[in-house]
Amino acid sequence: MLRSTGPAGRPRDSDLRAFGVRTLRFQLNGDAVEVAAPDHWTLLEVLRYRAGLTGSKQGCDKGDCGACTLHVNGRSVLSCLTLAGDVDGQSVTTIEGLVGPEGPDVVQDCFDAAGALQCGFCQPGMMMAARQLVTENPAATRDDIKHALSSNLCRCTGYTKIYEAVEHACQRELETRGDVGGGAGGGAGSGAGGGAGGGAGSDRGAQPS
Ligand code: FES
Ligand code: FES
Repeated sequence: MLRSTGPAGRPRDSDLRAFGVRTLRFQLNGDAVEVAAPDHWTLLEVLRYRAGLTGSKQGCDKGDCGACTLHVNGRSVLSCLTLAGDVDGQSVTTIEGLVGPEGPDVVQDCFDAAGALQCGFCQPGMMMAARQLVTENPAATRDDIKHALSSNLCRCTGYTKIYEAVEHACQRELETRGDVGGGAGGGAGSGAGGGAGGGAGSDRGAQPS
């Protein structure tokens, strides 16, 4: 059940807990929501099977592919490995929330322009990981980009167009900030040093590259 906070007549939290269900309250793509879900459900399950947001993909469901990547408080996480209860009171952004009032995010635009997808299954997670990098280190080098996306597997594209798309998104971000030519690798939270498979300061677990 997904709804904005506030309506009267809902089951008491204590009644739900007796059935192993809890009510989660968090920000979802900018809206305050309440979702009742079993204690053991992951964030990915809550989003797909309670909130109806299917943009975050259920690929391996065990932390290997990155298709379920989204942001919690602006940081990339693997939602298939995140218990839903852990986001109570937090801010969650999914690929659906990347689109702003003025249209697609620059990362979405650049993936589109570069033709950086084929089947598209990896793209939501890939874009969310890229979005964190573009925000934190728009002066990223190709190696920074490879590192930031090392937790996200694509079975179709061969990665070259994906890397080009992220480079273009970084360039546009620098232009927006009026910082073109400001030097490579100087952004806050650079991917370098993030640990094996950790992406750009990502909170995701280590993944095969
Ligand atoms: S679904 Fe593959 S890492 Fe989450
Ligand atoms: S475009 Fe098919 S898995 Fe990446």
